[in-house]
Amino acid sequence: MSLRPGLPSDAASLSRLHTASFDDGWTTPDFETWLSRAEAFAVIGGEGEEVAFGLALTAGADAELLTIATDPARRQGGWGRQIFHALDAEALNRDLERWVLEVARNNLPAIGLYKSAGFMEIGVRKAYYRTMDGRVDALVMSRKVGPVSGHKGA
Ligand SMILES: CC(C)(COP(=O)(O)OP(=O)(O)OC[C@H]1O[C@@H](n2cnc3c(N)ncnc32)[C@H](O)[C@@H]1OP(=O)(O)O)[C@@H](O)C(=O)NCCC(=O)NCCS
Repeated sequence: MSLRPGLPSDAASLSRLHTASFDDGWTTPDFETWLSRAEAFAVIGGEGEEVAFGLALTAGADAELLTIATDPARRQGGWGRQIFHALDAEALNRDLERWVLEVARNNLPAIGLYKSAGFMEIGVRKAYYRTMDGRVDALVMSRKVGPVSGHKGA
């Protein structure tokens, strides 16, 4: 597995991966904008071609995980965990203190990833996401930045 920081020149690859994972995938210009912001940081993983990525944002002392996705054909191979681990190292490098994210209550793979990395639920945003099946709550999850003992994401 090789991991590297995401740059604005990676925007098209990130858009391809994001669109493969979400109905309302972000465009290349969307990612160019995100990746040009000093407060954003991204990690891309791949073997020749890009397989997975994560994008996070500095918000005060918080690191906010905006999105993380693995190519559908390569899931459950450890990429998501490695991407989060690398983002966490960068968050530590930036002296950030706490991770915060939102995840749809019915997104069991993502919730599994976050729990295995040591995240805990700290709140609920009712009817936060609009989906084809109606509104879905967002779970707000958090964990401290840096290694969390006893968790695979540490
Ligand atoms: C969530 C996602 C990024 C996980 O990526 P991945 O590369 O498959 O994750 P990993 O292989 O590193 O798995 C790490 C842990 O996540 C959990 N997990 C992964 N897939 C899971 C699934 N289908 N069901 C339950 N838990 C799962 C497990 O705890 C797993 O650890 P384990 O294999 O030791 O049990 C991937 O499913 C994805 O791209 N989903 C679509 C995009 C998305 O919903 N992103 C999150 C919201 S922004």
